[in-house]
Amino acid sequence: MATPPLFLLLLLLLSFLLLLRPAHSRSTSKITGTTKPAPLENGDPRQQHAPAECDGRRIHIRELPSQFNADLLLACDSSSFPLLDSSSSNFCASLSDHGLGPRTHNRSRSWYRTDSHRGLEPLFHRRMLEYPCLVADPSLADAVFLPYYSSLDALPFLYSPDQFNSSFLHGLSLYYFLTDKDNSPHVWSRHRGLDHFLVLAGPAWDFSQAPSADPVLFGTSFLTTPELSNLTVLTLESRPSPWQEHAVPYPTSFHPATLARLDAWLSRARSSRRPNLALFVGGGGGGGPNVRGSIRAECENRTDLCEVVNCSGGSCAHDPIRFMRPMLRSDFCLQPPGDTPTRRSTFDGILAGCVPVFFEELGARAQYGWHLPRGEYDRFSVFIPKEDVVFNGVRILEVLEAIPRDEVRRMRERVLELAPGVMYRRQGSSDGLRARKDAFDLAVEGALRRIRRRVRSIAEPELLLEEDDDDL
Ligand SMILES: *[C@@H]1O[C@H](CO)[C@@H](O)[C@H](O)[C@H]1NC(C)=O
Ligand SMILES: *[C@@H]1O[C@H](CO)[C@@H](O)[C@H](O)[C@H]1NC(C)=O
Ligand SMILES: *[C@@H]1O[C@H](CO)[C@@H](O)[C@H](O)[C@H]1NC(C)=O
Ligand SMILES: *[C@@H]1O[C@H](CO)[C@@H](O)[C@H](O)[C@H]1NC(C)=O
Ligand SMILES: *[C@@H]1O[C@H](CO)[C@@H](O)[C@H](O)[C@H]1NC(C)=O
Repeated sequence: MATPPLFLLLLLLLSFLLLLRPAHSRSTSKITGTTKPAPLENGDPRQQHAPAECDGRRIHIRELPSQFNADLLLACDSSSFPLLDSSSSNFCASLSDHGLGPRTHNRSRSWYRTDSHRGLEPLFHRRMLEYPCLVADPSLADAVFLPYYSSLDALPFLYSPDQFNSSFLHGLSLYYFLTDKDNSPHVWSRHRGLDHFLVLAGPAWDFSQAPSADPVLFGTSFLTTPELSNLTVLTLESRPSPWQEHAVPYPTSFHPATLARLDAWLSRARSSRRPNLALFVGGGGGGGPNVRGSIRAECENRTDLCEVVNCSGGSCAHDPIRFMRPMLRSDFCLQPPGDTPTRRSTFDGILAGCVPVFFEELGARAQYGWHLPRGEYDRFSVFIPKEDVVFNGVRILEVLEAIPRDEVRRMRERVLELAPGVMYRRQGSSDGLRARKDAFDLAVEGALRRIRRRVRSIAEPELLLEEDDDDL
């Protein structure tokens, strides 16, 4: 009588294991390894029967004419836009390979010369094609993704003087397309656009000029146009009181395709020797009193504790080797505001296990709640108000030196735990890596939470007064 129970146990174990198989490996394995996006995003039969674990997370990718995406990848050079800064000179090339850009060198497998801004639009589009819960029928979808490369479409309004005065037009042709009587306008009107989302790969400030502004200043009106106000927009930086937008991490240069490569990098960062206390990677600091100037002055005084990588003139933009090695040998990475409060360098530093030092809340805590737990900043970062540094004589290096060594170690450990969630893995990654949520996965989850609440708010308007959807 000993055999039946054992047999039953084995059977139970087997069915348990089968249940545990990650759902996405079933539904996405067929497109693993493809290098080009499938052209017919919604005509694909494998998208018709998204399984039950997709309840509440089904997404329809809206098919758009190529003028809204692919065509924009062809006209993005400084020859087209003379006012684009010099760091953008090989801008088109940096958007190749679905936004990853070229590899840093021939033998590199996980490192790319990725554009820290606009690369996110093609990258996000390509990754969306691998999303396990796509549906071809928009009426079954919980959300509709618009593969519109909106910051690329903004270039003429930002960098061609003859089009400055038309910057209120940014995005309107998309709206007219979606509501055109010949283009299934019910997809948009079903929830008045509240279930639609897209990526706008830049700081919200560049896209929030009042449509009626006179004179017209730098920036478009994408985020202030009433027609587009129901969209959920993923930006790299949000305004202090955002409505449509939510910030997601800047793309870094690191896009591993397997769990082994991710883990190899993280263990390198974990065991790296860090003789340097503080690092600043960036430019600026001239002009009147400002925190970048204070950082430079302190670092010049104490080269034994502080290193500066001079990135003036965009010299580091597509060259991660220049700053990743210094980040690996530093305990703290100083992340002061520049033209705007946030910076891509914050995410490079997190990948390197370099504890971020912020100088204002808008630099990260007020931004990336879907990716970095808002209530935990003390555990993985240091905050020194910029006013204290510039006007009250607080010395950054003294503050950092005073932090006990095992506290620094604990912070670094926490930073490295958060790192997988702020990097964008390569498209077509291994199943093992897909089982870890990356910046894309967390961004989609956040967008779905927000859209769920907004759609419900049509019937229950008081929902809109609820807390933000950040605190998980
Ligand atoms: C890298 O590969 C390209 C194209 O295959 C080749 O032209 C180039 O010489 C290679 N560079 C190095 C440093 O090997
Ligand atoms: C844009 O509008 C301003 C007035 O608001 C005008 O002075 C300027 O000439 C216009 N620029 C172009 C290129 O039309
Ligand atoms: C946005 O949603 C609101 C509230 O549901 C609705 O009144 C409005 O008409 C919508 N705007 C557009 C442009 O569809
Ligand atoms: C630089 O060092 C000098 C001499 O030790 C000191 O007086 C000065 O305050 C320091 N300046 C900064 C910005 O740390
Ligand atoms: C940084 O580099 C720029 C351009 O290469 C140079 O003009 C500037 O003086 C440098 N700044 C510092 C502080 O070394």
